[in-house]
Amino acid sequence: MGNITFTMIKPEAVEAKNTGAILKRIEIAGFRIVAMKKVHLTAERAAKFYEVHNEKPFYNELVEYMSGGPIIAAILEKDDAVASFRELIGATNPADAKEGTIRAEFAESLSKNAVHGSDSDENAHIESSFHFSDDERF
Ligand code: CMP
Repeated sequence: MGNITFTMIKPEAVEAKNTGAILKRIEIAGFRIVAMKKVHLTAERAAKFYEVHNEKPFYNELVEYMSGGPIIAAILEKDDAVASFRELIGATNPADAKEGTIRAEFAESLSKNAVHGSDSDENAHIESSFHFSDDERF
């Protein structure tokens, strides 16, 4: 099991000024912020990031949404980071997210679900490298 995961606080949560509250939840849960930036993805960059979903019916909506406003991108460190973070954020669909999870508290809908979390160690590394060079990690 790896010790890093990658997250994005999504446009609707940034717009709603929930960045600070979400980061506080993440730090209280024991994650260390290795790298972080606010960035407004172009449609091309969002399409590339979510390329694995390009056959899905929701792909165009997802790309449009994720490039529709700035996000906070971050690399997080903790033992068993991927699984631990997915537990903290809850199910992809906030209707299924357990009480006390970040998505239960902050997500609006399945597409506007407040935060992204990597689904595997391999993707955590791919996604981290998509957004951050080695000299942006501390
Ligand atoms: P995320 O963890 O960022 O990874 C892919 C995203 O696609 C997911 O969160 C959801 O926000 C979004 N997604 C997944 N399924 C659907 C769906 N059926 N309709 C719209 N968006 C979806």
